[in-house]
Amino acid sequence: MRDLTRRTFLGSGCALLLAACSSRTARSAPRDALEPTPNIPDEDDLPPVPAQACAADPTARNIEGPFYKKGAPHRSVLVDPNDDGQRIRITGTLQSTKCVPIGGAMIDVWQANAAGDYDLEGFRFRGALTTDAKGRYDLRTIIPGRYLNGDRYRPAHIHIKVKAKGFAVLTTQLYFAGDPYNDGDPFIDASLVMQHTAERDIRRARFDFVLPA
Ligand SMILES: [Fe+2]
Repeated sequence: MRDLTRRTFLGSGCALLLAACSSRTARSAPRDALEPTPNIPDEDDLPPVPAQACAADPTARNIEGPFYKKGAPHRSVLVDPNDDGQRIRITGTLQSTKCVPIGGAMIDVWQANAAGDYDLEGFRFRGALTTDAKGRYDLRTIIPGRYLNGDRYRPAHIHIKVKAKGFAVLTTQLYFAGDPYNDGDPFIDASLVMQHTAERDIRRARFDFVLPA
């Protein structure tokens, strides 16, 4: 297990990205702690493709930050039963601005755990989803913990890269309505803030990604 201390973090070239980095120690966990899971659940469990999504503007870009890792396992369930954190299910679609659902695209997800730490050794809370033929995805995870950015916390956020054939890679972040640190965050974009509601013991949110055709 390797700790990412502030010293090594700055020394590794992250200094220019300090605003997006955590000043906390990043923890890791055994890579085999999570079992691969089916990518898409039952057909009836997925949201309908929105009729108006094609009128939307392209999804706003947002900073990548320093903690992206290639090679995340193909899975849509990032949370283990023993993990801390508020469970949330995020569903939605991927479409182009010409109203075309984009199937077979990769949605690469990475986020902090409930304590605000990124796994830098393994792939905890990291996963790559593939959209189905209708452009749909279904992510099961937790609302990430916050981490310090200088002397203030960044709001909870999930990092995303959308990789679809014929389109430029979209790098962005998703945020959560009601987070007290949303106001004043230097990176947040209002269009990336998700409303979320209670559904039994988990939260539910929806976000539709739109790529410029
Ligand atoms: Fe982050």
